[in-house]
Amino acid sequence: MVKYEVSVTTANLAQATTMNNVFIKLVGTDGESKRTWLTSLKGTAAFYLGAESKFSVSCPTSLGKLVLIEVDKKPLPLFPEDSWFPSKVEIKSPEGDTYRFPIYRWISDSEVKLFREGTALRVFEDSHHLGKYSREKELNLREKQYCWDVYAEGIPHCIKVDNPLDLPSEVRFSFTKTTEFLFTASTGLTELKLKGLSDCKQNWTDIDAISRVFCCKRTGISDYVQKHWRDDAFFGYQFLNGVNPLMIRRCSVLPKNFPVTDDMVFLRGSRSLADEMQTGNIFLCDYNRLDGVKTSVINGKKQYLMAPLVLLHQTPDDKLMPIAIQLKQKPADDNPIFFPTDSEYDWLLAKIFVRSAEFSEHQLNVHLLRTHLLAEVFSVSLLRNLPMVHPLYKLLVPHTRYTLQINYLARLLLIAKDGVFTKFAASGGEGMFTILKRSLSSLTYSSLCIPDDIAERGLESVPNFYYRDDGLRLWDIIHRFVQGVLGHYYKSDAEVQQDSELQKWIQDIFVHGFLSQASTGIPQSFGTVAELVKFVTMVIFTGSGQHSAVNTGQYDYGGWMPNTPISLQRAPPTTKGSSSESTMLQTFPDVNTTVQGMSTMWLLSKQSSDFVALGQYPEEHFSEEIPRKVIKDFQGELEVLSAVVKARNQSLDVPYTYMVEVENSVAI
Ligand code: FE2
Repeated sequence: MVKYEVSVTTANLAQATTMNNVFIKLVGTDGESKRTWLTSLKGTAAFYLGAESKFSVSCPTSLGKLVLIEVDKKPLPLFPEDSWFPSKVEIKSPEGDTYRFPIYRWISDSEVKLFREGTALRVFEDSHHLGKYSREKELNLREKQYCWDVYAEGIPHCIKVDNPLDLPSEVRFSFTKTTEFLFTASTGLTELKLKGLSDCKQNWTDIDAISRVFCCKRTGISDYVQKHWRDDAFFGYQFLNGVNPLMIRRCSVLPKNFPVTDDMVFLRGSRSLADEMQTGNIFLCDYNRLDGVKTSVINGKKQYLMAPLVLLHQTPDDKLMPIAIQLKQKPADDNPIFFPTDSEYDWLLAKIFVRSAEFSEHQLNVHLLRTHLLAEVFSVSLLRNLPMVHPLYKLLVPHTRYTLQINYLARLLLIAKDGVFTKFAASGGEGMFTILKRSLSSLTYSSLCIPDDIAERGLESVPNFYYRDDGLRLWDIIHRFVQGVLGHYYKSDAEVQQDSELQKWIQDIFVHGFLSQASTGIPQSFGTVAELVKFVTMVIFTGSGQHSAVNTGQYDYGGWMPNTPISLQRAPPTTKGSSSESTMLQTFPDVNTTVQGMSTMWLLSKQSSDFVALGQYPEEHFSEEIPRKVIKDFQGELEVLSAVVKARNQSLDVPYTYMVEVENSVAI
């Protein structure tokens, strides 16, 4: 007889314990063990949460190289069946080899489950017949569990699920996350002490009243925003380091529909636009995507959403100053171009209409579509097409944590018929889908890859652009990490080409995420290791750094409503000289709309206590030495980045931390 030492670890998660009897069968290249009851002196405590328990399994002869284990559990008579979450099984063979089996799965019934040994295997090298069988079985099951659905035509497809409890338990929120999220969602207004205002359909009557409401919950940055929201330099700064750093681009030729002349923006011929454009000092934000979007009616009042053009000038002291704003795309007498030299409220109102356009552009395109919805597509395709033993599954599954459930909730709470955006944002329901569809049809692969995006927008040398500085460093760190892991498994382009599972992953992404639009430049297949590494870098960057950059500061920059109004309820001025503070207050959203916007920003910026930081992998999917070392190097590089950013932030009025306090996945 030979003995196998079996060690089983139950995850340290709420409700992970099982009191049921657990059985195991070891399967190797030379045979299999009997189904063996795992008993120890610990008795029923052996599978308590956090416990690591040791057992032995005897066999008449060696089983050869272990390929998989079969695990099942049965309740004791009179005991109920419970759910168990084992994290891993380690087995020491009589030859002295250690085999690791990552599990990380809820086992809730009595069915036998198969788990592969942890060494990553691509489909074309998985030669053992039992290995092949379990691979196929796993993917067949996953295709049934993770089905595509069309939520609305023209936007990325999503997971088919009618209720979060229909999601497989592995991808659901933890008990902690559910409790905290539901608590914050249901008590957001109370937590902000705004409950009494949520039914008030009145205008704001003075700015101090907004200030009194806002004082309930502040952050260091939201305080700064309240003090500086009227400043032109801060208005310009937000295009670089606010929650939407994707709108601004260098301008070398003025758009034909934005007829700005030198004497309008540079007094007494001090400069010429042509010269400044040639030097690279002129920038443009063009919200043409919002042109003609149908707006909503809130509290019985028509709402307004503009499609502005904003021209900015980089001054010799490195400030980015707005110099001209046109609120509608078509030049006309009743569509004046506003300048900083106009009356205080003409110019301020023009900026407020831009900031409100920012709300829709940021929330729908930059945040929802470009991070949440895409991350869901990457995740569903991964779960449908790659088995646990595949190296890409091991690499990416930690970066899918909570994404499916948070997106289900985003659809339910934000964009469904009674969602906050549908009811309280200027675009309402119909306009919102117009913006989402236009955003997807103009999305490009290069705009998702920050080095290409910065180059295409001509922003390489803009001073004080921390999103770019930190984002490019983070991209490089992630790229080295992905190269280290995938480069270990894919030694040649031919290996990438022949990996049919990998190819199915990208095909599904192209079809279900980008709706087969070749013009996006999204790959439809992978031909080289470099292409694969770049795409996977983009996937991890989008779900971590990019999502954080557009998500974490939502309350910082949006909590003080005048800086980012969710909607506006008066048309913009069509002539100059007639606007006042009272015009501004009548233009702002009503009290109830304002506080709904504030509490949503609050909920969406709130980190959960079971946050997993980028680069932390509490689930150990990799068994081999090289990927484990690459993970350590990745963690080390992220720490260095964090220290560099912290030191840089010491000298800034507004610290930029959104690229370093980052979660592994889109989870909020
Ligand atoms: Fe988010």
